[in-house]
Amino acid sequence: MQIGSHEHRDAFCSHFTQTYIEYDPKTLPWPVLNADALHRLQSVPFWEEVFYTERRAGAIVAAFTETISDPVLKAALVLQGEEETRHANLIRVMIDKYGLDAPERPMEDLGADIETRFKDFGFGECLDSFLGFGLFKIAWQAEFLPREILQIFETLMYEETRHIVFFINWMAYTEARRGWFARTVSPLTSFHYYLRALHRMAGLARRGKQLNDGKNFAATQVGMFLDGFNFRNFLEDCYAENGRRMSSFDPELLRPSFLPQLAEVALKALRLWNVRAEVEPAAASLPPLRGADTRAPERQ
Ligand SMILES: [Fe+2]
Ligand SMILES: [Fe+2]
Repeated sequence: MQIGSHEHRDAFCSHFTQTYIEYDPKTLPWPVLNADALHRLQSVPFWEEVFYTERRAGAIVAAFTETISDPVLKAALVLQGEEETRHANLIRVMIDKYGLDAPERPMEDLGADIETRFKDFGFGECLDSFLGFGLFKIAWQAEFLPREILQIFETLMYEETRHIVFFINWMAYTEARRGWFARTVSPLTSFHYYLRALHRMAGLARRGKQLNDGKNFAATQVGMFLDGFNFRNFLEDCYAENGRRMSSFDPELLRPSFLPQLAEVALKALRLWNVRAEVEPAAASLPPLRGADTRAPERQ
C-alpha cells in the first residue's frame, strides 16, 4: 500500500471508524467504593488536569475538523472529536460520582494556526500514551485503583491507542500528499514535535507541582504506586505494552515508531550497562591472580 494514496487514506480512516465502541459514560459499571478506595481516588492530584486535557483535546480536534474538506478524513476526525469529548464527559461523571476536587478550568485560546495545534496535540498524545502504557501497567499490578475503575480506563487507553495510530497515518498521508517522500513520518519532523511535546509536559509538571504543593497526595499513596520503581523496568514496561497494544491493529497501517525505537536503543544501552555492572563486582570477588602480591603492605 502506497503511503499517501487514496487506498492508504481509506484504510486508516475505515479502520478507525470500524473499531469505534459505543457506550455512554453515565451507564458504565461504576463501582461503589469503600472508604479506603474512595480516599485514594480523591487524593489523586491530577483529575483537574486530566479533565481539562480531554476537554482541550475535543476542542482542538473539532476546530481542526472544520478546516478539512476531504469527506473521508472529515468523517474520521468528527468521530475522534466526539471520542475526546466523551472522554471529558467520562471524567466529569467520575468527578461528580465520587466527589473529586477537580473544577472546570476556562478553555485557553487555541490560536489561529489550528493545523500546528493539531500536530502538537497528536505528537503529545503519542508521548502521553507511550508513557501511559507503562504507568497503567504499574497501576494495574499495584491495584492502585479498584479494578472496576481501571477496567473503565482500559477502554479509554484503547481509544487513545486508536487515536495515535490514526494520527501517525494521517501525518504520513499529509506529508506524502504535499510531495514529501514519505514511507513514514520523517524522523526530523517527529523529533521536532516530540521536543515541543516534552517542553509542554515539563511546563505541565511544573504547574502541577505548584498547584499540588500543600495538597495531600500522601507519601504512602505515591509509595504504593511507585514501590520498587526502577527506570529501566518502567521503560521495559512502556516498550512491551506499546508492542502488545499495537499488535491488535491492522499490520498494514503505520504506527508510532520514533519513541519505541528510541526506547529500544536506550534499553539496549541500559542492559549493556547492567551486564558490565554485574561483571565488574564478580571479577572483584575472584581469587587473586597467581603471582600477585597479596601480602599486606609493610608498616613504615
Ligand atoms: Fe482522550
Ligand atoms: Fe485521544
